[in-house]
Amino acid sequence: GLRYDFYGTHQAGITTPAQDRLHFAAFDVAPGTSRADLIELLQDWTVAAAAMTQGKELGEFGAGSANYDAPPEDTGEAVGLPVAGLTVTIGFGPTLFSSSTGEDRFGLLSRKPPELVNLPHFAADDLDPASSGGDLCIQACANDPQVAVHAIRNLTRIAFGRAVLKWSQLGYGRTSSTSTSQKTERNLFGFKDGTANIKNENASDVADFVWTASSPSSPWMAGGTYLVARRIRMTLETWDRASLREQERVTGRTKAEGAPLSGGTEFSETDFSATAADGSRAIDPQSHVAQAHASHNGGAKLLRRGYNFVDGNDALGRLNAGLFFISFQKSPEQFVTIQKNLAKNDALNEYLKHVGSGIFAIPPGAPVGSFIGSSLF
Ligand code: HEM
Repeated sequence: GLRYDFYGTHQAGITTPAQDRLHFAAFDVAPGTSRADLIELLQDWTVAAAAMTQGKELGEFGAGSANYDAPPEDTGEAVGLPVAGLTVTIGFGPTLFSSSTGEDRFGLLSRKPPELVNLPHFAADDLDPASSGGDLCIQACANDPQVAVHAIRNLTRIAFGRAVLKWSQLGYGRTSSTSTSQKTERNLFGFKDGTANIKNENASDVADFVWTASSPSSPWMAGGTYLVARRIRMTLETWDRASLREQERVTGRTKAEGAPLSGGTEFSETDFSATAADGSRAIDPQSHVAQAHASHNGGAKLLRRGYNFVDGNDALGRLNAGLFFISFQKSPEQFVTIQKNLAKNDALNEYLKHVGSGIFAIPPGAPVGSFIGSSLF
């Protein structure tokens, strides 16, 4: 079945083609954990992640030499399933380097990249601290939800005593395509999402916008990237009462084809100067596509890799649903620039609420025999 290398120059799960399912988890390092314990945790995570992404069971499970007096090392629910393109991507939050009280718990403060700070408050943010932040993150993506959940469950178990799960998010239905070989899927507004995304075939965009270069303050980040996660609630009940004209106007694209309102087909260039029959702009300048476009944000671009979520419903009988937005960028500044603009000017805001947030430094990939994050220590 489909499988991606775990070891390599860059971590997998970024420019590798977006899978259908996500389990994202943020962890806090447990009190009393030492620098040596943290390194050991990253080594254990690396070994287990490498095994699972290659379809191997953890420990002796199923090998015929099980110890009946201990719990099985592998929890077992992925046994017999194809790897389903599993990728495991590990990152470090700002609080790993200096705790909320400013404490340098692991002797890492001098290695902290200056850009790795909590995201600023954006207009209309309504963040729940219980589903924001974290010292560490793991993004598990696969084409089978059970395979992604199995990865997070077992990595959480391995972390026992060293890191505890702070919050996690399941996602389904990728809202991006990261390769030109993939068709563009739809988000819960019913629009194609990912059309103008950075695609891994575009080597110059990937180099210019995704991979972090070596810098004097954090040479260990060379070949890494920054992950921004935003849990964005979509008020579907309001959206579903909006006319098709309104839905297309606030998006800036047609619903059926995903073409820019300036004309053409899905992958036609957006023309923000084109006019409609009545003389107004064909693409509303307040539309999401206009406000998110690089030309309105000092040239900034992102690699988007988010997922839909539906977490049941709220007490008012509304679906607790939306977009678990994930983007990768060589510097968090790219996201901050675009989101500052969107929070103020995006016509889509009427139907959105940002309720969770996280930022993580994603170190480069590990060579065989090494571990994720080794360059930091
Ligand atoms: C484009 C939906 C949040 C950045 C698009 C498109 C749709 C869409 C339908 C057009 C197709 C495409 O090119 O992918 C949404 C929805 C959101 C959301 C429903 C919230 C629930 C965000 C956020 C950001 C963002 C938070 C970044 C801060 C972009 C960018 C583009 C885009 C950069 C490409 C614009 C272009 O160059 O044409 N989005 N988006 N989006 N979105 Fe979003």
